[in-house]
Amino acid sequence: MESPFKGDILKGKVALITGGASGIGFEISTQFGKHGASVALMGRRKQVLDSAVSVLKSLGIPAVAFEGDVRKQEDATRVVQSTFQHFGKIDILVNAAAGNFLVSAEDLSPNGFRTVLDIDSVGTFTMCHEALKYLKKGGQGRNSSTGGAIINISATLHYTANWYQVHVSAAKAAVDATTRNLALEWGTDHDIRVNGIAPGPISGTPGMSKLAPDEVTSKDREERPLYKLGEKWDIAMAALYLVSDAGKFVNGDTLIVDGGLWLSQPRHISKEAVKQVSRSIEKKSRVAPVGVPKSKL
Ligand code: HXC
Repeated sequence: MESPFKGDILKGKVALITGGASGIGFEISTQFGKHGASVALMGRRKQVLDSAVSVLKSLGIPAVAFEGDVRKQEDATRVVQSTFQHFGKIDILVNAAAGNFLVSAEDLSPNGFRTVLDIDSVGTFTMCHEALKYLKKGGQGRNSSTGGAIINISATLHYTANWYQVHVSAAKAAVDATTRNLALEWGTDHDIRVNGIAPGPISGTPGMSKLAPDEVTSKDREERPLYKLGEKWDIAMAALYLVSDAGKFVNGDTLIVDGGLWLSQPRHISKEAVKQVSRSIEKKSRVAPVGVPKSKL
């Protein structure tokens, strides 16, 4: 799909994207590049990184990749530094690296729980922390009078509760809290805008193949109101909005991009039934003397 944004809205910007070689991260890398940015990708798998970079380069996008695991502080330091050395500055950090698997809480080991928190929550903070000196107003390599921008990819799982996702829900709740707190502190002190995006189910992503595997599809999902799949493009457009000047007054927000899915509940009374009974119930409740039991009305 064509972008509604002008092709130069990120002209001259440099973005570092963790998990930037696959899934939602790769689409963000691609769309940032198509809108003028140079992109650095961070990931654990060399082959995946190499093929992502060659696709980006074939689109004319200045791209480079660095192997690294966001769980390791030394990797975070090295990749942030290498990005700076390669492009001369860093304007945008996107934390898209994440870990997930389906497991009931009963079968989840504390180490499994910790692993996902280490990737999603601690990894996000570590990357923000390492990038601060480049992103902040007046920071290394910055000749503009503003600070940079951060986007943390989150989820909606923790707004309610979700089956077999206690580890990810906890991890993403921490990501959202980190987004808000950094927005407050670094927005105030360093002119850095920190926002999040909470995607719904997005087709063609590693997340979907783990959370809704073909092996156990899809009767339940189809029966949920508002259930539809989003596209990676939807998330990338939200990211473009948030990091570009279009979003210059947005700070500390986590933008939900899920077609309204997280709001959906099974309908417990039909619309017709509501039409029939609602007014008469209301009428009865207005004329009922105080203290008369419901059964006497
Ligand atoms: C139960 C599991 C498990 C499973 C791993 N573990 N897989 N437990 N069920 N299916 C447990 C292990 O037993 C171990 O605990 C601990 O987790 C660490 O496992 P390792 O295999 O040693 O970890 P590692 O090799 O580092 O791999 C991390 C990973 C892996 C998270 C398990 O899946 C990964 O690397 N994922 C990155 C890519 C990814 O998942 N992308 C999808 C993101 S989707 P013990 O106790 O045995 O030592 C996403 C969407 C979120 O984030 C929101 C959706 C709406």
